[in-house]
Amino acid sequence: MQNSPLNKRLKLANIPTPVEDYNFKSFSFLIKRDDLTGFETSGNKIRKLEYIFEKAVSEGVTTVYTCGGEQSNHSRATVVAAAKLGIKCKLFLWGSKRKNVTSNLFIDLFLNAEIQYLTKKEWESVEKFMTEDKIYTERNSNQKILIIPEGGSSEEGILGYINFLYELKEQVDLRNLSGICIATGSGGTAAGLIAGLSILNITHLKIYCVNVLYSKPIIQNRIYEMAENTLNKYFNGVKLNKNTLEILDGYSKEGYKNISTGKIKLIREFASNSGIILDPAYTGKAFCAFYDLLQSGYKNVLFLHTGGGFGVFSKTKQYLA
Ligand SMILES: Cc1ncc(COP(=O)(O)O)c(C=O)c1O
Repeated sequence: MQNSPLNKRLKLANIPTPVEDYNFKSFSFLIKRDDLTGFETSGNKIRKLEYIFEKAVSEGVTTVYTCGGEQSNHSRATVVAAAKLGIKCKLFLWGSKRKNVTSNLFIDLFLNAEIQYLTKKEWESVEKFMTEDKIYTERNSNQKILIIPEGGSSEEGILGYINFLYELKEQVDLRNLSGICIATGSGGTAAGLIAGLSILNITHLKIYCVNVLYSKPIIQNRIYEMAENTLNKYFNGVKLNKNTLEILDGYSKEGYKNISTGKIKLIREFASNSGIILDPAYTGKAFCAFYDLLQSGYKNVLFLHTGGGFGVFSKTKQYLA
């Protein structure tokens, strides 16, 4: 492992994260607590950012650009990591300027990130906005800018969830698991996991992805493409085993920024039994899908808690209704 690309990372996350046992209703299962990767840096994104910022620092980057929804966990984690490393950060957020800011957006502003708000239509061309701004700014200042794609899902970022699998392997006998259930936004976490399974030649495990943002065919292709690109770039083209991916579709019908009252009911019931807080955009929806798996008789599926806790504070009225 000495020359492994997995070693080229900064230490930004509190890892390994714990794997804990839970009982809920008649079910027993494991949760891997990636919500505990840090406080300001909490959640899955910081694992990706360890690799992305290693590249940024080694290339002398002065400013990072990234993007997401206005309550983007990835954007918040990027702002925090950049602040730690003395790197400037500009965010391109789908949303609009608000009088009352809360949750992730509050942290972004508190840490002095520069923010450009985009309408939903403009968001469709967010990469163009970031690229044109980068070209203009680099031409007119001494800044060296790195664009971090949505969700930190670059080839370097994806290494974070390949590394995760090596970490999990030390904690749990993977032969005793049948799957891992996760929330999926940009798809990078899933891409890392299926790439990692291919590298380790593990064929019996399924990665159950709950797509909260993109339709099933779009996200499925993106996950395969990102996993293949990372394998080709860093692992001598290890062949991707596509059978380890399964998309659990239909758990975000209310829309990415919303959550149904039925889902909140389950989230609250689980919270008051376990002390675990699940967020409205990602992990709350993923847990509802996970619960359906349990009810359908699936056994030994691990739930990966990918964080997002700050998002709860932008939905307190709905959560307490
Ligand atoms: C809390 C949380 N869970 C899951 C995800 C999904 O991760 P990915 O974008 O790698 O699919 C995100 C990313 O946006 C997130 O913030």
